[in-house]
Amino acid sequence: MKAVAFFEHGPVDVLQYHEDFPDPVAGKDEVIIDIKYCGINHLDIWTRQGIGAAVGKKIRLPHICGCDIVGTTPAVKGQRVMIYPGVSCGKCQYCTGSSNNRTTTERRRRRRRRRKNDNNSNNSHENLCNQFAIIGGFSDYNGGYAEHVAVPEKNVIRLPSALKDEAAATLAVSYLTAWNMLQTNGASRKKKILVYGASSGVGMATIQLAKALGATVITTVSGNSKHDFAKKLGAHYIIDRTRQDIADEVKKIVPAGVDIVIDHVGAATWATSIASLRQGGRMAVCGMTSGNEATVPVRMFYTKQIVMVGSLLGTRAQLEELINFVMRKKIQPVIDSVFPLQDAKEAQKKMEAGMHAGKILLKL
Ligand SMILES: NC(=O)c1ccc[n+]([C@@H]2O[C@H](COP(=O)([O-])OP(=O)(O)OC[C@H]3O[C@@H](n4cnc5c(N)ncnc54)[C@H](OP(=O)(O)O)[C@@H]3O)[C@@H](O)[C@H]2O)c1
Ligand SMILES: [Zn+2]
Repeated sequence: MKAVAFFEHGPVDVLQYHEDFPDPVAGKDEVIIDIKYCGINHLDIWTRQGIGAAVGKKIRLPHICGCDIVGTTPAVKGQRVMIYPGVSCGKCQYCTGSSNNRTTTERRRRRRRRRKNDNNSNNSHENLCNQFAIIGGFSDYNGGYAEHVAVPEKNVIRLPSALKDEAAATLAVSYLTAWNMLQTNGASRKKKILVYGASSGVGMATIQLAKALGATVITTVSGNSKHDFAKKLGAHYIIDRTRQDIADEVKKIVPAGVDIVIDHVGAATWATSIASLRQGGRMAVCGMTSGNEATVPVRMFYTKQIVMVGSLLGTRAQLEELINFVMRKKIQPVIDSVFPLQDAKEAQKKMEAGMHAGKILLKL
């Protein structure tokens, strides 16, 4: 099959286009997906660079990147599907839903389901499993930079007819993580939220979802074209980080500080996030694009009594909720560009250089 794989970790040039890469073979409880689109995420860059090695994780090489997979499955003729990218042990307390480690939002959701007698409710929290890994990411599962992929059958989600393939190929990573962070941290009407990087996958997703939940959104951009993008997206306040101090500008807009910060930037923004939050505000952390080691004002953190919550993707149940929400609120993810598979290298280069505004997709 046609595929873009890497045989060693490293810079973008390790990505190799092959026309005769071995076809995947479905293992027990797995199905083959004929891929139509694969969304590109910053995670693809980390995976190709071998970031997991720093924490002692290795993956089998050659590896095929790509976690945002949409296609059809020959198992059900013509059925359009997307793939929930999380894989876990299936046996631990988090995978089976017997954990006590639930957030307030989850407990509320469970109570609501019980009141509605929803017997199909899934209470698992599989993204907390210590074997949790991402298909196409830092796992031995190959991903979507290819014509076909084998995935666990339980990860397959049927697409509603009104959800276009291109839009679906943006949801399973950026939007799911954004949805998880907004839910976990109580985003709702009247809440004021600071979201970095309007033009990024996570930034755009958070802005659209937070607005649909009725929250007020302050966002950051670098440069005029990204400012226009953020405006079109409907952000209420836009700060250009190339010529304005983010924390100072936030204070002018909300003197007491924001309720929630969505921080996917890491080292460069942790101190700004703490300075921008109100007393008792919440800092949702899911990434470290600018670096892994942050220096923070510890005294300000505890005197403000800030709550900091890390987020890793979301659960399959949250992805299904998200799809319903996106359909109900008619949210349209913005596609920056669509590259053919053989240009995957160019697509990753564009993301690495920060030249995109919205999602980049590969078309098979
Ligand atoms: N934990 C999870 O499950 C999960 C899920 C999805 C993503 N992530 C992580 O979240 C991060 C974002 O992913 P993505 O796919 O959305 O990436 P992306 O589209 O490449 O976006 C990167 C963004 O980072 C912003 N940025 C870089 N340096 C900055 C700085 N010093 N100050 C403010 N903003 C800065 C850029 O903003 P400008 O436009 O202003 O330059 C850009 O918009 C990545 O680290 C990714 O690995 C984690
Ligand atoms: Zn588990």
